[in-house]
Amino acid sequence: MSAIKVHDKLFVPFIAEETILNKVKELARKLNKDYEGKRPLFIAVLNGSFMFASDLFKEITVEPEICFIRLASYKGTQSTGHVITAVGLDVDIKDRHVVIIEDIVDTGKTLHTYLPQLLNQQPASLKIAVLLHKPEAQTHPVKVDYACMTISNKFVLGYGLDYDGLGRNIREIYQLSE
Ligand code: IMP
Repeated sequence: MSAIKVHDKLFVPFIAEETILNKVKELARKLNKDYEGKRPLFIAVLNGSFMFASDLFKEITVEPEICFIRLASYKGTQSTGHVITAVGLDVDIKDRHVVIIEDIVDTGKTLHTYLPQLLNQQPASLKIAVLLHKPEAQTHPVKVDYACMTISNKFVLGYGLDYDGLGRNIREIYQLSE
């Protein structure tokens, strides 16, 4: 693996494909244990989580269901501030064991803003599973229940994550060069 240029920026190899896939399998084993006897509903947040959700879902053995949403963010009125709405949530989550599948928790703002809307619908439980967690970047409280990997506060791309639309197809994860 060597450095790649995406748009105007240089990225260097960071996490190999084999490592990613092993970590995803490790997470699946945990979920299979924790959700034994239940039928969890995975809610995968597009676009960034599509590869992660796919590889993870293949390893889940506890009769899971999955649906996909997009979180659209817009500026509300002054009183409502930053607003997040979900597009595509067409499943009733009341009394369901829900697992949110997200690519990365960076500042945590997106999930922090959106989660209360899901909790309002009274799921039996609600857990967050992410591919990557950047604890040093987090400014909004979000409890990350499952993380494949914890990384430092640097921009990454590949394995579903993009830089300005590009890089999602790359099998490994690259990090922005200094
Ligand atoms: P938040 O800052 O936790 O709200 O992150 C919101 C979204 O920004 C994530 O779901 C990602 O799609 C995107 N994002 C955050 N950090 C990165 C990164 O390092 N690379 C690519 N996308 C990122």
